[in-house]
Amino acid sequence: MSESKSSHYVHGASPDEQERLSLLNSLLNARSLEEMRIQSGASILDVGFGLGQFAALMARAAGPSGRLVGVERDPDQRARAAANIEAEGVADRVDLRAGDAMDLPLAREEWGAFDIAHTRFLLEHVPDPGAVVRQMSRAVRPGGRLVLADDDHETLRLHPALPSFERLWSAYMRSYEISGNDPLVGRRLVYLLHESGVRPIRNTYIFFGSCAGNADFDSYVRNLAEVIATATDHMASHQLLARAEFDAAIDDLHAWSRLPDAAIWYGMCWAEGVRPGSPDA
Ligand SMILES: C[S@@+](CC[C@H](N)C(=O)[O-])C[C@H]1O[C@@H](n2cnc3c(N)ncnc32)[C@H](O)[C@@H]1O
Repeated sequence: MSESKSSHYVHGASPDEQERLSLLNSLLNARSLEEMRIQSGASILDVGFGLGQFAALMARAAGPSGRLVGVERDPDQRARAAANIEAEGVADRVDLRAGDAMDLPLAREEWGAFDIAHTRFLLEHVPDPGAVVRQMSRAVRPGGRLVLADDDHETLRLHPALPSFERLWSAYMRSYEISGNDPLVGRRLVYLLHESGVRPIRNTYIFFGSCAGNADFDSYVRNLAEVIATATDHMASHQLLARAEFDAAIDDLHAWSRLPDAAIWYGMCWAEGVRPGSPDA
């Protein structure tokens, strides 16, 4: 996994993590795409595209005259993304680039030219999310849109309550803070738009939960267990939780998920703004 000195990405890009991220995409992408309202012919910048699955959907929505430039730091993610983009048949309009969200690799003429700049689940992994949003703001044309989607980990509620898992979740949030990242960045998305000179126009939660009896419930439970699993070494190295406590909490989660009334409530924070400077801004 590649790391810049300036940010720590806790999940990495192991095959297991790539499988989890792929699962998350399959659960979330239809709802995310609906909110984007992408117009035919749109030029889109996607920052931290991961496996490229959502980038492929956005590129398809933009149609053959659309264009998507993606930026991703990790070479393993980029390799998987290139294969996904090819398989989705949108490689003709997608340009995947190596680069850091804090220092976007755009050509001079590309700055100020995109219709939409989008990022999802990235701002929580960088120490200065405002710097990323300011770059995104410079990348779109006046009147262009910025779309930010990210976690506020405190929105998670399990019912019936599961105290051992709640302790684990708190340790997981603490691991973000230790890395200099914000586990609650989702609630700050509108602020981040405003702070970077973008006019906020809309915010919402995209529901990312499920309950017993729903066909996808096991997938949500798996995502929850695995998103933390990738961070266990990091948590253990900072003595946030003993390994045995971690294992017991995950066992408890799986047992809990077999309750007939088990429910996961979670909302991904989503916010949209417009760069001022044109009649439609
Ligand atoms: C949780 S994944 C989300 C991927 C994708 N946006 C999605 O929603 O499926 C975060 C991605 O951001 C990348 N990333 C983390 N820090 C980065 C940085 N500073 N610059 C560019 N990419 C970064 C990671 O390598 C990872 O692929």
